[in-house]
Amino acid sequence: MNTILITGGAGFIGSHVVRLFVEKYPDYAIYNLDALTYAGNLENLKDVEKASNYTFLKADICDAETIQSLFKKYRFNKVIHLAAESHVDRSITDPLAFLKTNVLGTINLLNAAKSIWKNDFSNKLFYHVSTDEVYGTLGESGLFTETTSYNPNSPYSASKASSDHFVRAYGETYGLPYIISNCSNNYGPNQFPEKLIPLFIHNILQNKSLPVYGNGNYTRDWLYVIDHAIAINIVFHKGKISETYNIGGCNEWKNIDLVKLLCKLMDVKINKAEGSSERLITFVKDRPGHDLRYAIDATKIRHQLGWKPRVTFETGLSNTIDWYLQNKEWLNNVTSGKYQEYYKKQYATN
Ligand code: NAD
Ligand code: DAU
Repeated sequence: MNTILITGGAGFIGSHVVRLFVEKYPDYAIYNLDALTYAGNLENLKDVEKASNYTFLKADICDAETIQSLFKKYRFNKVIHLAAESHVDRSITDPLAFLKTNVLGTINLLNAAKSIWKNDFSNKLFYHVSTDEVYGTLGESGLFTETTSYNPNSPYSASKASSDHFVRAYGETYGLPYIISNCSNNYGPNQFPEKLIPLFIHNILQNKSLPVYGNGNYTRDWLYVIDHAIAINIVFHKGKISETYNIGGCNEWKNIDLVKLLCKLMDVKINKAEGSSERLITFVKDRPGHDLRYAIDATKIRHQLGWKPRVTFETGLSNTIDWYLQNKEWLNNVTSGKYQEYYKKQYATN
């Protein structure tokens, strides 16, 4: 029997992880703890909210006392920690928010686990979900492996690197059983439209310009979110304690090529004349400290745990567009109010 705390389960990746666990493991008790920030949305979990093995807990991981009392009350034996501030651009305008949630929030969870589990670590696990951005940037060639040195360049990646270090340090110092995974760029249904793919889908639907940073020659390794959720499930059940696993799509795209492909697909799906979406592309001021290229070597998880991505980029991107077209209400709800202020501020100088 597992009593699992999943943090950040109302967010993009977290909601897919929660759904997978709730549906696949009726015998586990799944607790989704989320502060419901701008990025958290319980609409993402409407289909599983009534499941008997699922409970939602609204709480902030920065609130140490509440976190401690929830650990005491529910006796979680395993944690999958995804709650975070996750958008690089926001970290550039407000680094402190990233330090608070990503670093202090993680330490609060580690402290609660350590004090409730005491020294009985049998059948316990603290699984920290992290990012490939901790490794910094690659040049035109090479891949990130699990032994690549950390070299974070943005406040977001610095905060995630710091949280990774704290998780590892609690393992070394107190014996806390942990696993970390570092994943590449995710895309798919339910992603908040501040990230490249959903932002551009939304802008095309609104006939708004598509702000490509710099010259667009930046490369990311894209993975369909459900493939990431499947990887998390495999790492959670089969991963070795104190190990790190890199997760990636083996699917590198230069931003400008990806955006052009997205534009072509959108033209077809919303019956626009060929080339109309592409005409919305506007090259704008670059992101400060913009990492040139991320790409993951996923050999370890592939060979040791038998995971590999299942969804091709063509299928994943097409599914993603279809999801946004079929969920316009979701999109409208998350892009009203505060989103408008964020958008004006972020893209004003462009
Ligand atoms: P997201 O921004 O969509 O969701 C984050 C969730 O965390 C939201 O539901 C939000 O309400 C919650 N949250 C934020 N601050 C909180 C707090 N103080 N207390 C409790 N809950 C809080 O993020 P995502 O893209 O789903 O990313 C999830 C995790 O995966 C993050 O840790 C991120 O660093 C990591 N990651 C993301 C990607 C990606 O491409 N999106 C890739 C690799 C790793
Ligand atoms: O690599 C994993 C990381 O991927 C995760 O840890 C982060 O949480 C996630 O946000 C993502 O970070 P990126 O910065 O790579 O994702 P984003 O969607 O913000 O940007 C992808 C690329 O597109 C990047 O090179 C910047 C560029 N971009 C982005 C936006 C929002 C633009 O050109 N224009 C834009 O408006």
